[in-house]
Amino acid sequence: MVPRRNAPGPGYGANPPGAKGTRMRTSRRVPVALLALSVAAALGVGVWSSATPVKAGTAPVTAVSTDFEDGTTQNWAPRSTDETVANSPTVAHDGTHSLAVTDRTESWQGPTLDLLDTMELGVQYTIAAWVRLADGDASTSARLSVERRLGDAVNYETVVGDTTLNAGSWTQMSGTYTLANDVDFLTVYVETSDGTSSFFIDDFTMTYVPAIPIEADIPALKDVFADSFPIGAAVGRAQLLGEHGQLLSKHFSTLTAGNAMKWDATEPTEDAFTYTDADAIVAYANANDIAVRGHTLVWHNQTPSWVFQDASGATMTATEENKTLLLSRLENHIRNVAGHYADDIYAWDVVNEVIDEGQSDGLRRSTWYTVTGLDYIRTAFAVAREVAPNAKLYINDYNTTVAAKRDALYDLVSQLKSEGIPIDGVGHQMHGNVDWPSAADTDAALTKFAALGVEQQVTEMDISVYTDSTSSHDTISADLLARQATRYQALFDVYAAHQADLTSVTLWGLADDDTWLKTFPITRLDLPLLFDEQLQSKPAYWSIIGQPSPTASTTASASASASTSASASASASASASGTTACAVTYSVAGQWPGGFQGAVAIGNTGTAAINGWTLGWTFADGQQIAQLWNGGFTQSGSTVTVTSEAWNGTIAAGGSASFGFLGSWDGTNTMPTSFTLNGQTCSG
Ligand code: G3I
Repeated sequence: MVPRRNAPGPGYGANPPGAKGTRMRTSRRVPVALLALSVAAALGVGVWSSATPVKAGTAPVTAVSTDFEDGTTQNWAPRSTDETVANSPTVAHDGTHSLAVTDRTESWQGPTLDLLDTMELGVQYTIAAWVRLADGDASTSARLSVERRLGDAVNYETVVGDTTLNAGSWTQMSGTYTLANDVDFLTVYVETSDGTSSFFIDDFTMTYVPAIPIEADIPALKDVFADSFPIGAAVGRAQLLGEHGQLLSKHFSTLTAGNAMKWDATEPTEDAFTYTDADAIVAYANANDIAVRGHTLVWHNQTPSWVFQDASGATMTATEENKTLLLSRLENHIRNVAGHYADDIYAWDVVNEVIDEGQSDGLRRSTWYTVTGLDYIRTAFAVAREVAPNAKLYINDYNTTVAAKRDALYDLVSQLKSEGIPIDGVGHQMHGNVDWPSAADTDAALTKFAALGVEQQVTEMDISVYTDSTSSHDTISADLLARQATRYQALFDVYAAHQADLTSVTLWGLADDDTWLKTFPITRLDLPLLFDEQLQSKPAYWSIIGQPSPTASTTASASASASTSASASASASASASGTTACAVTYSVAGQWPGGFQGAVAIGNTGTAAINGWTLGWTFADGQQIAQLWNGGFTQSGSTVTVTSEAWNGTIAAGGSASFGFLGSWDGTNTMPTSFTLNGQTCSG
């Protein structure tokens, strides 16, 4: 077996990753039996290989599974009193039964399942179901959604969008969902986009990948770049919770709400302002001493259609009346939203993506532009300055490394500044890929705007692993991640050279588990950020902090069974010929049927520092390590070898280093009491 890098985290030892109760920010009950089964299932499928570094240690756990083979509806129910939901032997995706939905009178009617006691806050679930129309029914499409409520507030969130169903064949619908809000009602349901066809569902599953602790001991990005610029991430509410929240506060000194402050979120209907998610993000930032960038007051996307409708409800055309109406809506929006956050937001993307270098005047032909000309930009900046006088006001755009685009942006900013429009800064989104943009073009962009006397920020950086819009990989190779790291490093080198001009650098996302690039330009696996899907540091992270990336890769598997419980610890400090001064504490931090979480601390009891360590022991009862953090490991039969990482290899005299792991056991789980350190027996 090849050693695998993995890592540590605060709260380590408190609970196994599957024991989600401690991560919840809700008072809802955790089904204990489910937890035990879940973790056992996780350990049952150890699947890592050097070819799949992106999903290391990510055996999914089944939280809910309904196959209808027992002849019941397995707690599925109709959404209304009209339709009938019943177990059916007519067709089955697998086995002999499915769930039939008949007698529908509205397209929204369909089968629904209560998830209130099974879905946990902050955990990303994959929700999947097989769906099929009755033979002979006309093709239609279905979607799978979550309905969540808290008090009177109801939200419907699409997990799998409209998916074509063909009569007589099964179609799988699968998507991911993270509950980020407290709820007192939570269901999943399937409906059709239109029509009232009868349909069947089968083999519904809701799975998740157990979280592992974040790497507590690696350098914090905000410290590494403290003398250069604040460093940020774009987030939603889900990124404030559990390990995500820990990663965010450890590394980032500024954040941007990825969607929560956009017009569709803050003013979905005219003059009715909602800040539920945005306020939660700002409260988190304030509590964790993180500065907030506002994004965005004016954009052509994610703006509700009512904004561009005239008094009669028709789409606006370019008339004086419509211009007046649109500018008044714009002013009202900014007055409210920027005013609401006047004390909280230090920089606003006032207007976003207004440039189109393909136009002779370089200006995007959005409805904003066609109805108001440049006045929407003038109004936006003027009102923002008035209601948020302490915020730096930015114009933000992508592809500023492309000469024609940056020239058009430069010309616009020059013109508006000469008119006295209060533009303080230019935001460079910096969405790139492993081969693009070049350092030279990035330097050219930053150099060009420095001459304008404006602040600059990198506002939305990510590096796609794809260089085209059509390729798709099931796994991302280590070579590709290394190429990505090289690009990150090259661009951060340019940023560092321009640190006098740059007042922040923000990544467009926290970690690879949640990135817009998973659905744009097509749905595919993309891993564009600095932390992987399990929030662990990637080569890109190490490249920008200027340290060698610890090597990664392993193959491991584990099996789980049995049912017992125990919790204990043992210390070892044995003597033998060839001994070294150390004391090892091995403890079982938690144990459940088939699985356990181990914690190991290596104490240096000598007088000299230990520089790099390899710890060895033998399991007495066939235990198998499935995943390990804060060290690399191999296991051959009962013999375990754990090696230090770059960041915890040195143990000062009197100091200690620790790591944790998940393991499987069966029958007995005797703790080892004898250890070797760097080939010699530990002797305290
Ligand atoms: O809110 C709905 C939810 O109710 C529904 O269930 C779900 C199902 O599709 O959609 C949700 O809306 C999605 C929204 O993100 C929030 O998750 C939209 O479909 C989706 O299109 C939207 O994508 C956002 C995109 O802007 C929209 O243009 C991305 O998350 C966001 O990261 C991205 O950010 C932009 C910057 O604002 C500007 N620069 C480019 C950048 C990347 O496109």
